[in-house]
Amino acid sequence: MNGSTVEHIPVLAGTLAGQITLPPDGVMVDATIGQGSHSYLFGKILGPGGVLIGLDVDKNAIREAQSKLKGLSCKVVLLCSNFSQITRQVHEQGIEKVDFILADLGVCSSQLADVEMGLSFQTNMPLDMRIDKRIKSTAADIVNKADEKSLADLIFKFGQDRASRRIARFIARQRSIEPITTTGQLATIVSKALKRPGRKLKPRIHPATRTFQALRIAVNNELENLERLLASGPELLKKKGYIAVISFHSLEDKLVKSSFKQNENQGVYKLITKKPIVPTRNEIAENRRARSAKLRIAQKQ
Ligand SMILES: C[S@@+](CC[C@H](N)C(=O)[O-])C[C@H]1O[C@@H](n2cnc3c(N)ncnc32)[C@H](O)[C@@H]1O
Repeated sequence: MNGSTVEHIPVLAGTLAGQITLPPDGVMVDATIGQGSHSYLFGKILGPGGVLIGLDVDKNAIREAQSKLKGLSCKVVLLCSNFSQITRQVHEQGIEKVDFILADLGVCSSQLADVEMGLSFQTNMPLDMRIDKRIKSTAADIVNKADEKSLADLIFKFGQDRASRRIARFIARQRSIEPITTTGQLATIVSKALKRPGRKLKPRIHPATRTFQALRIAVNNELENLERLLASGPELLKKKGYIAVISFHSLEDKLVKSSFKQNENQGVYKLITKKPIVPTRNEIAENRRARSAKLRIAQKQ
């Protein structure tokens, strides 16, 4: 399936728009432009004197956002770049500081459906998981080459799966018979590892969810990139500028929470959200991807 035919529904978009005040000549950086749906909402507030900079590591996303945002009156600059490079990218545009940084983490629905991304356990596809195709190692490389202990540690650290050792053992056993090259193969192996007499699996999530999360985080170096992005906020934001982050699992949210808190303690940020904002039941019913979303917003003082 070609992922670009799948429309991505932006998460918590209305809630977010209600919390952020953006001047018409302001500068916004959408660190994860995706299909450009969040940016489109804010881009409409920016006038001809405003600038919208969008970053994404996936060049297909840049292409999709380009078509979505072409009618906006503000200046739109879309760059295929990792958000860990946000400060350099903004400065290269001759801009010192910005009014709003938005990061809607994770992947778009179109990327999950894209066979070339190799992210999904719902559909069988080559086991890749590189959102940025410039990255060298795929998920298949890790699954087939990492020693069993490193694999177990990775699944535990980034997937928080307590059955990590057993999963790694099953993977090691299976790859000694044949290489693991597809998402379907991996999902089956993990499901078998977790199926034990008397053990009840959580019915709401697929047994391979945590292992897939762990591999995606490892392949794309997601937590380190997020830490770099969060560290850029204080320097890059203007006074009264906002940083908003939508995260989708506790490892991401923990980093956002602790960075915002630390900056609040140092008098650098004011927390706009004391507790994270989560989607309503209605939003979750309309968009299942929203179910684990958490939005945190801070304002530079
Ligand atoms: C959830 S989608 C964003 C959707 C977007 N808010 C919209 O309304 O269409 C997340 C996007 O972030 C991109 N991404 C993930 N990690 C990134 C990184 N480190 N740097 C830049 N973009 C990244 C993904 O390629 C994906 O397109």
